[in-house]
Amino acid sequence: MFGQIMSRLVLITGGTRGIGAAISREFHNKGYRVVATYSNNKDAALKFRTNTGIATIQFDVSDEKACFDGIKHITDEHGIIDILVHNAGITADSTIRKMTSNDWHSVIHTNLDSCFYLTQAVLEGMIQRNFGRLIYVSSVNGLKGQRGQSNYAASKAALVGFAKSVALEMATKGITANVIAPGYVDTEMVRAVPEAVLAKIISTIPVGRLGTAEEIAYCVSFLADERAGFVTGAILSANGGMY
Ligand code: CAA
Repeated sequence: MFGQIMSRLVLITGGTRGIGAAISREFHNKGYRVVATYSNNKDAALKFRTNTGIATIQFDVSDEKACFDGIKHITDEHGIIDILVHNAGITADSTIRKMTSNDWHSVIHTNLDSCFYLTQAVLEGMIQRNFGRLIYVSSVNGLKGQRGQSNYAASKAALVGFAKSVALEMATKGITANVIAPGYVDTEMVRAVPEAVLAKIISTIPVGRLGTAEEIAYCVSFLADERAGFVTGAILSANGGMY
């Protein structure tokens, strides 16, 4: 059993920065083989690879062909992907009255369409093996809504319906599909919120602080574990009590 865990291959999208980087490190430290994708920030990815020894690959998750080519490249090089952690996501915050068509579409393409492309691309390998873990990183704001995030909240809420449906289709094939819904975590994305607004938000978190990326990474590793095979179609909230 231990040998099997050691050999599992994990793909983490957006895995070189923020929550994704902590998830990559968590799996790497536990002995999994890890590949982390990145999109634009090549310097950060290079630094991450040098510091951690974790393999990285650049592709745009909002592009269907790039996803299929990227997954094929990883599979040719490393073998079948056992665990997909789809973490890559963007914000383009704006109140609904001011939101542009580009704010809407860019967020939906990157956060949601990507989910369909990546899941299809990894699924056949998982079915062959009769084992798989699909983990989608949603958000507390996808569950409760947030001012300025109708696009982001819509994309993150949609991951729930997607995961629950895939969970049903894959239930007898050893493949689970779950959602983790982090609250406000201390990352560049959250630090980009206007300071006064962020202070107001933090005052509504019952534990009284932002989460850490490592706290989210630990939850993801739980969902990926071989022993978590009875957990599927679930939402694991890690939000400091912010419901
Ligand atoms: N909670 C409480 N008050 C809020 C608020 C919030 N979430 N968002 C805005 N407000 C308040 C502001 O403090 C401000 O109040 P005052 O008039 O009393 O000063 C008022 O609403 C108007 O806000 P702005 O002056 O900022 O208006 P704007 O039009 O320039 O911008 C906004 C509006 C885009 C919503 C901006 O306030 C904003 O970026 N809010 C934060 C949105 C957010 O929480 N994004 C999360 C990013 S992190 C992430 O997405 C990760 C994750 O999954 C959690």
